[in-house]
Amino acid sequence: MAVVPFQNEPLTDFSLPQNREAFRRALELVQSRFGREYPLIIGGERIMTRDRILSTNPANPKEVIGSVAKADRDLADKAMAAALAAFQDWSRVSPKARARILLKAAAIMRRRKHEFSATMVVEIGKSWVEADADTAEAIDFLEYYAREMYRLSEPQPLTRIPGEDNELYYIPLGVGLIIPPWNFPCAITVGMTASAIVAGNTVILKPSSLTPVVAALFAEVMEEAGLPPGVLNYLPGPGGSVGDYLVGHPQTRFISFTGSKEVGLRINEVAAKTAPGQRWIKRVVAEMGGKDAIVVDREADLDAAADGIVASAYGFQGQKCSACSRAIIHQDVYEEMIERIVERTKKLVQGDPRDPEVHQGPVADESAFKSILHYIEIGKQEGRLVLGGGPSPLASETGGYFIQPTIFADVDSRARIGQEEIFGPVLAIMKAKDFEDAIRIANDTEYGLTGSVYSRNRANLEYARRHFFVGNLYLNRKSTGALVGVHPFGGFNMSGTDSKTGGHDYLLLFLQAKAVSEKL
Ligand code: NAD
Ligand code: ALA
Repeated sequence: MAVVPFQNEPLTDFSLPQNREAFRRALELVQSRFGREYPLIIGGERIMTRDRILSTNPANPKEVIGSVAKADRDLADKAMAAALAAFQDWSRVSPKARARILLKAAAIMRRRKHEFSATMVVEIGKSWVEADADTAEAIDFLEYYAREMYRLSEPQPLTRIPGEDNELYYIPLGVGLIIPPWNFPCAITVGMTASAIVAGNTVILKPSSLTPVVAALFAEVMEEAGLPPGVLNYLPGPGGSVGDYLVGHPQTRFISFTGSKEVGLRINEVAAKTAPGQRWIKRVVAEMGGKDAIVVDREADLDAAADGIVASAYGFQGQKCSACSRAIIHQDVYEEMIERIVERTKKLVQGDPRDPEVHQGPVADESAFKSILHYIEIGKQEGRLVLGGGPSPLASETGGYFIQPTIFADVDSRARIGQEEIFGPVLAIMKAKDFEDAIRIANDTEYGLTGSVYSRNRANLEYARRHFFVGNLYLNRKSTGALVGVHPFGGFNMSGTDSKTGGHDYLLLFLQAKAVSEKL
C-alpha cells in the first residue's frame, strides 16, 4: 500500500448546519446507549465482572454513560498471559502489515468521528469543539505512527567499511502497559496504544476510570480493523491496585504513562525495582503535569495576548497539561492586560456541553471539583480575586461539577497557586519588572511543559528561545493545541520524559535496535 504524505485531520466546521445536525444525531446515538455494559477484552474474549466502574456524566452525574467491567489482579494476570502469547506472532508480523491496521483504524474512526466526540461530551464534559479536536488528534496519531513505522522499517543508514556487511534494524520490546489520563481520553489513549502496537509490541490498556467508554470504543475499532486477539487487551481497573500490580509485574517490558506527576513518579520508582525472574530493565515513558506560563511583554499585541491567555487557561475548563495557569505580565501593561483578560473571560458561556454554544462545561468529577475549589480558597489568601471564586450557580441547580472561571492577580511566583498544578479553570496573574524578570518567573517551577511569549521585540523573542526552559515553546501563539507532526509534544523536568508524541523520535521508545555484522 502506498501512503500519501501525512496531513492533519481537518476540524469540523460547526457553523455549517449539516455538521451541527450530524453531531446532534451522534449525541442521540450515544445517549441511546446510556447504561450499556462494557466488558474487559482479554485475548479477544469478552469478560464481564460483578464489580463495575460506573462512568457518569460530570454535567449530570445521575446519568450513567456505561457500566464497565473492573479488573482485579487475577484478571490482570490473565491479560498478561494473553499479551505474552500474542507477542509471539505479532512481533513477527511485518511492520508494514502492522501499519496497515492503523491506517484502517483511522479510516473507521473517521467514519465514526462524531460518535467518538459525542461520547467525550457526555463522559468527560468536553465542548463540541474540544471533543472534535480530540478525535481529530487521535486519527492523526494513527495516520502518523503508521507512516513512522513504514519509515523505520526501511534499511537504516550506516557507514560502510570494506569486507563487512552491516545492518541495523528495529525490533519490538515485548508486553507494554499503557496508562493514559482522562483529559484527552481519545487522542492520548489512541496515540499511546497505537504507537506501541505498530512497533510490534502487545499491550494491556488500562484506561482512566473516568473515561473507560471512549477507550472501549477504540478497542472495538482496532478489532474491526483486523488487529489479532491478545495484541490489545482492554483492562479497566483501579490504578492503585491493578495498575500498580502490573507496573511491578516481572513480565512487563515497558510502561507508557501519561498523567499526574505523583503517579508518574510512583510508576518510575516501582518499575525501577527488579522483580524476581525479571530479565530486563523496564522502560518507562512518563509524560506528566505542567504549570505553564504565558509571558506578555511590554511591546506585544495585547489583544492577541489576551485571546491566547483566555483560550489556553479555560479551554476544556483548564484541564489540559498545556493549559496556561500563570500569566506573567510586564509591569507597564499589567493593569491593561488584566482588564482585557477579565473582559474576555466574562464572555465564556457555561453550561451542559451538549449545547453547541457552551464553551465551559463541568470539571471531571467530584474529586476534581473539591480539589479545584480548595485551591480557589488558598488563592483568596494568596492573591487578589478579580473574577469568579467558587462553584457556579449551575452546580447547585444541576448537581454537575461546574466551577466559575477564576482569576487571581498579584500572585507571588512562590505562592501555592503559582507553583502547584490546579488542573481547573483558575488563572494566576503575576507582575514582572521587565522581560528578563518575566522569563525568570516563568522558569521558577519544577515543571517545564509548555510556555508562550507574546512580544514584538525580536531580541526578546530570541532571549525566550534560549532561556525559557520548556519542552514546547510558542511565540505569539497560545500554549495549547499541539498538532501531530507539527508540534512534537513533551515536557522537561517534572513534566516528564520529553517523549515528543507526534514526532519522529517517538516510536523509537517502543523499539530496540539490533546491529548485525557479517564478515565477507
Ligand atoms: P492520574 O495520574 O491521576 O492518572 C493517570 C492514569 O494513571 C489513570 O489511568 C489512573 O488510573 C492511573 N493510575 C493511578 N494510580 C496508579 C498507580 N499507582 N499505578 C499505575 N497507574 C495508576 O492523572 P489524571 O488525573 O488521569 O490526568 C491528569 C494529569 O495528567 C495532569 O497532571 C495532567 O497535567 C497530566 N497530563 C499530562 C500530559 C502530557 O502530555 N504531559 C497530557 C495529558 C495529561
Ligand atoms: N497536546 C495537548 C495540547 O497541546 C495537550 O494542548
